[in-house]
Amino acid sequence: MTKDGAEQGDSTRAVHAGETRRKPHRALVEPLFQTSTYTFDNMADVCAYQEAHAQGRADDRFEYGRYGNPTVAAAEARLAALEHADSAIQVASGMAAITHTFLNLLSSGKHIVITDDSYRRTHQLCEEFLPRYNVAVTVVPLGDYDALEAAIRPETRILFSETPSNPYLRVLDVERFADIGRRRGVKTVVDATFSTPINLRPLDWGIDLVIHSATKYLGGHNDLLAGFIAGRDQLLAPLRQAMGILGGISDPNTAYLVLRGMKTLSVRVRQQNRAAQQIAEFLAAHPSVEQVWYPGLKTHPGHEIAVRQMNGFGGVVSFTVRGDGPATFRFMDALQIPYISPSLGGVESLVLHVATMANYDVPPEERWQLGIPDNLVRLAVGLEDAEDLIADLDQALRTI
Ligand SMILES: Cc1ncc(COP(=O)(O)O)c(C=O)c1O
Repeated sequence: MTKDGAEQGDSTRAVHAGETRRKPHRALVEPLFQTSTYTFDNMADVCAYQEAHAQGRADDRFEYGRYGNPTVAAAEARLAALEHADSAIQVASGMAAITHTFLNLLSSGKHIVITDDSYRRTHQLCEEFLPRYNVAVTVVPLGDYDALEAAIRPETRILFSETPSNPYLRVLDVERFADIGRRRGVKTVVDATFSTPINLRPLDWGIDLVIHSATKYLGGHNDLLAGFIAGRDQLLAPLRQAMGILGGISDPNTAYLVLRGMKTLSVRVRQQNRAAQQIAEFLAAHPSVEQVWYPGLKTHPGHEIAVRQMNGFGGVVSFTVRGDGPATFRFMDALQIPYISPSLGGVESLVLHVATMANYDVPPEERWQLGIPDNLVRLAVGLEDAEDLIADLDQALRTI
């Protein structure tokens, strides 16, 4: 907040939120507290700490690394400020964030509804693991809100979706999704990894919990794995308590890197939005490209929702090249700037052959039925000059 109470902008919060102004030794940068445990002066100190802790009094002390760390707490507070959340929990990976949320909100006999076209490992968690614990799962098409509502049962506890989705960048109407959850008394959880809090703040639209793979844009440099769960304190408090038992925490060194990465989140994402839009428009007009999926294109089915609810369309562009699998491999091999790699959101552009790199174990006929053709490519735009990326894509497309 500024002195007159107005909220500071995204870039200011990305640089400063979560840090105390006066740091130890008057260091400018938030220190990395690389410690697994904390000490007590004497037994009176132990008793005073235990008493304060038992009464739930605000206390800036820490006891043991699995229950908290100042560097992790600073990263959590920064993400919470960016998301308009009361607080956030940083965990070991994006998948750890999803698993931890499901383990806490679900129990035997309950039910979850998840939208299709989500991250494959999330689907595997739902379809291969949750049934082992007697949790039922229904998958509905992202964007079919009647099917979503019809799937809700008395025992439904979570409506889960992702936006924009992967690989087709479908855009969830978060307002409508949240409204269905609220009316039917079911918690809504959205994986907003592809959006980032710069482009979309799901909590502002009434979503209960936001999930991030901080491995992507929040870290931003392709050099760490982490995740976040963010929301209102009331919902998050039991999840934080459970983290001390379940243990999927993020270590302080990773939190330090996430804190540093988030300082440039706003400038990075805005630049990636701009470059991805330019690239999507270039690809849409290219004779060697069959189809392009990018929410910033007027032809994209989610464009109108994205315009209404998002501040930017993101840094990922998916497209099919005009050719078969081998032609697509030639195109991938000819690229000089993007690396062939399965992640996204960092400073280096990465390119993914969806069928081979994310669905290799799925038989081709099943892949095609799922809508994953052999000529589908996902480009995660980094921070290189858009003109250089376009020139590189153009020369590679000529090899098809
Ligand atoms: C949308 C989305 N959610 C979650 C994950 C999992 O994140 P992590 O790799 O940090 O576990 C990914 C990974 O690619 C993702 O793309």
